[in-house]
Amino acid sequence: TNFGGRIVSFMVPDKAGKPTDIVLGYDSLNHYLHNNEAYFGALIGRYGNRIAKGSFQLEGRTYQLPINNAPNSLHGGPKGFHNQVWDAKLIDAQHLELQYVSKDGEEGYPGNLTAKVVYTLTDENALQIDYTATADKATVVNLTNHAYFNLNGAGAATINDHLLQINADHFTPVDSTLIPTGVLAAVKGTAFDFTKAHAIGDSLGSKDIQMINGKGYDHNFALNRTAAPGLQTAATVYAPSTGIQMEVLTLEPGIQFYGGNFLDGSLVGKQGKPYAFRSAFCLETQHFPDAPNQKSFASTVLLPGKTY
Ligand code: GLA
Repeated sequence: TNFGGRIVSFMVPDKAGKPTDIVLGYDSLNHYLHNNEAYFGALIGRYGNRIAKGSFQLEGRTYQLPINNAPNSLHGGPKGFHNQVWDAKLIDAQHLELQYVSKDGEEGYPGNLTAKVVYTLTDENALQIDYTATADKATVVNLTNHAYFNLNGAGAATINDHLLQINADHFTPVDSTLIPTGVLAAVKGTAFDFTKAHAIGDSLGSKDIQMINGKGYDHNFALNRTAAPGLQTAATVYAPSTGIQMEVLTLEPGIQFYGGNFLDGSLVGKQGKPYAFRSAFCLETQHFPDAPNQKSFASTVLLPGKTY
């Protein structure tokens, strides 16, 4: 849909060939308008994930963003890209181009920013998402997609049986408000070690302070990238009962693995199915959260004349 550039459905065959909708969402626009705190299927911008206290400095000026996830700013603010109507152009049956022009000062961010996203459904059953953006002033940009998946089908009880592999030896631990501490921590020997595939639910009972801060998995993983340019595999998820497998490839340095810890059954989705606690996962490819305030993280600054 052109509302938030949201993916509302994604049908794939299971091991018996039965078409299965693996993306959470609603049956009507009205539900998206009134229950948008979950960001179902949405394009996220101007800045994916959190900026500490909604404040950052750029070229000697301090910018203040709306605080919509106290005490921080989350996913571009309440009127972020997920809540905007994008201009949509169907290029052909396999390519949809979406464009949104975010005004200078909108949701506190500097510069007019033109964002373009092309969704491509490839002949290999891949969904490819190409993001570009340009600005007329220095700004910060971190675009992603917030689709929630359940590979047993949207509305199935849990994702904790899914086998997950994340190609990351390190992750970015967070404080109790989910802002990275700035440290890159080794996953080895922790609940965050998904270097070999295993069930998401295996370590959810861990007393690791990171599991307590995140209320489960809600963390950015620093991807192991080789020097080779181009897409590299970030994560693989497999649901044994349906045989559906998803691979995530990206150019980005990080991926947010969010295990649906804020779902509680109160949001009722497609076909009247409630979305229970941890009944979906998101794998949001991105630059690291709070990068505008963290000197050691790769920069998210976009300068005029450059293309994101
Ligand atoms: C991201 C965040 C989570 C949560 C969800 C939306 O994944 O990291 O903390 O806010 O979005 O509910």
